[in-house]
Amino acid sequence: MNDLLRVHGGAPLTGELTVRGAKNFVSKAMVAALLGETSSVLRNVPLIRDVDVVAGLLRLHGVRVEYDDDAGELHFDSSNVESAHVRDIDAHAGSSRIPILFCGPLLHRIGEAFIPDLGGCHIGDRPIDFHLAILRQFGAVVDKQEQGIHITAPGGLHGTKVELPYPSVGATEQTLLTAVRASGKTELKNAAIEPEIMDLIAVLQKMGAIISVDTDRVIRVEGVERLEGFVHTSLPDRIEAASWASAALATRGDIFVRGATQPDMMTFLNTFRKVGGAFHIDDQGIRFFHPGGRLNSIVLETDVHPGFMTDWQQPLVVALTQAEGLSIVHETVYENRFGFTEALNAMGAQIQLYRECLGGLECRFGQRNFYHSAAISGPTPLHAADIVVPDLRGGFSHLIAALAAEGTSTVLGIEVINRGYEHFMRKLAALGANVEAG
Ligand code: EPU
Repeated sequence: MNDLLRVHGGAPLTGELTVRGAKNFVSKAMVAALLGETSSVLRNVPLIRDVDVVAGLLRLHGVRVEYDDDAGELHFDSSNVESAHVRDIDAHAGSSRIPILFCGPLLHRIGEAFIPDLGGCHIGDRPIDFHLAILRQFGAVVDKQEQGIHITAPGGLHGTKVELPYPSVGATEQTLLTAVRASGKTELKNAAIEPEIMDLIAVLQKMGAIISVDTDRVIRVEGVERLEGFVHTSLPDRIEAASWASAALATRGDIFVRGATQPDMMTFLNTFRKVGGAFHIDDQGIRFFHPGGRLNSIVLETDVHPGFMTDWQQPLVVALTQAEGLSIVHETVYENRFGFTEALNAMGAQIQLYRECLGGLECRFGQRNFYHSAAISGPTPLHAADIVVPDLRGGFSHLIAALAAEGTSTVLGIEVINRGYEHFMRKLAALGANVEAG
């Protein structure tokens, strides 16, 4: 696909599209398949680049992976897991952060793991210190080498007590994927409890794991000696669903998102309604639309589940440029997730960034040099511009802004959007967007 898109904006997006499984669950369930001694099937899998990357990494480690696009099904045979060559892993993993989650399963299956320098979106430092500390607690030996990190477990992996400094999604998954086959019991305090994590726990339970989720973010795992394969249908991608909802609002459009479900989107739906967006929920999905009239400014803080997801923030900010008055958005999950607002300002938005915690709560980033609060004055008409996509969610937001703006914008770097938005060009066409490649 050409990496440049010409967007003739100014028209509402209207129509229907389908959202399939959640990128941030599917990629983890694929890693879980590595733990199973028998074959697995994952359903409702979207055709996105992150799925390709993880499938490639699994194949490098001897797992047979087949994808049926029409059915949206992945089939895995992980009966013969083997070591992969360092250079091959490096070449494959470049754009993803998932390789770090291969550690526990690979240690259990073949006794060693190699992790290259990690990719992922540049939305903050994104360290892996929690992951390495957890692996060490289980008994792993971490050897930092020039090309990456080599991990072994000469004395085996043993259950342990972990308390996370912050409820990190990845570190919680790391603990789960390692604890399920470690000897003895593991207790994880201050765990992340995102719906994608609950679905991963469901997969692991189907495989034979013993995991309980207590109140107050405590997860307990009793290690077992062997895990089987699984058959599982992914929960829908609530980030993609919310992105299209914000696109409907920003362009004064009307989009039916087939596959979107209410329970995991409650926090988003409340905010969407407060801004002045309307929605109708039925068994097939959710219709999001601009009901006419003015949008309202709001004060919003991103947070871990059940708070407002950080990944919902960027597309919604575009809609907030069209709201009456001053909106405040305080980003408390990542220290550097407002880079995309520079392009919005170039298109006519009035967004000012602050180092202070503007939302009301003091977060980890207060009193430091991170511009992690935004004040958005609106409404401001958006005009066309030449934009370069900075990261996945920021890039999608730029696309929405270009679609809402009068005139023809060019958006460069749209390949990044394929990492997490399935068939987005096809979906844009179905919504009547006037876009052309090149
Ligand atoms: N953190 C550390 N040390 C660590 C790990 C995390 O300091 O070792 C910090 C991070 O820097 C960040 C915070 O903890 O400030 C939360 O990070 P978390 O570990 O929860 O994020 P993640 O697992 O790397 C996943 C999603 C992100 C999503 C976050 C939060 C995947 C592949 N990625 O990242 O999704 O924003 O959880 O919900 O699941 C996206 O889809 O565009 C995306 C960035």
